[in-house]
Amino acid sequence: MGQIIEDSALDILFREARTHAKWLPRQVSDQTLRDLYDLLKWAPTSANAAPARFAFLRSKEAKERLRPALAPLNIEKMLTAPVTVIVAYDLKFYEQLPKLFPHSPGMAALFASNSELVEATAKRNSSLQGAYLIMAARALGLDCGPMSGFDPAKVDEEFFAAGKPCFGCDQEFFPEGHVKTNFLCNLGYGDPSALHPRLPRLPFNEACSFL
Ligand SMILES: Cc1cc2nc3c(=O)[nH]c(=O)nc-3n(C[C@H](O)[C@H](O)[C@H](O)COP(=O)(O)O)c2cc1C
Repeated sequence: MGQIIEDSALDILFREARTHAKWLPRQVSDQTLRDLYDLLKWAPTSANAAPARFAFLRSKEAKERLRPALAPLNIEKMLTAPVTVIVAYDLKFYEQLPKLFPHSPGMAALFASNSELVEATAKRNSSLQGAYLIMAARALGLDCGPMSGFDPAKVDEEFFAAGKPCFGCDQEFFPEGHVKTNFLCNLGYGDPSALHPRLPRLPFNEACSFL
């Protein structure tokens, strides 16, 4: 606690990490994806609810199912990436609270009676967990290409609609019909020769204030 990680690690996580759209011909192993989840799961969510669900699409068949939902400019990026993650959220996340937040037994009932709170909590925390996924991926030497240019209703219908099997995931883990897509994230080993120059960021004074 109180320790600062090495500067070279900060480069890997932040300063030199880029968003990638072209990929080297190198696969991502099952074990790497398991390691990725086993890291990101430790990062915080409200009431420890962990509402995000992650579908790792790797097969050509799974990618073809995703294709019709994508904005045209994102199709090639998705099809050529070794893995595309659907970062989703489970609107019934609160059913897991007796296990994940056992010291506060009233919490599940609070969510069960308030759909607005469920939606806000699921979106906020699955977005955070998607960001944790990006940082964990970078920590494991992977590159990311997040994408919001797609039609989430089409992805939900294709992958999470009631009565449809959830391709590539355990059925129990992805109960049907109440899982919704937040954003997509391509994963792999990026081709650095395809990167454009880095875009600027807001300086401290334009994005932050001391009060
Ligand atoms: C949530 C999110 C959605 C994004 N959506 C798209 C997208 O649909 N298509 C795309 O080409 N890039 C998309 N991007 C990539 C951003 O434009 C990129 O991360 C940003 O310009 C920073 O680039 P850099 O990491 O190389 O500095 C998205 C990024 C994020 C975090």
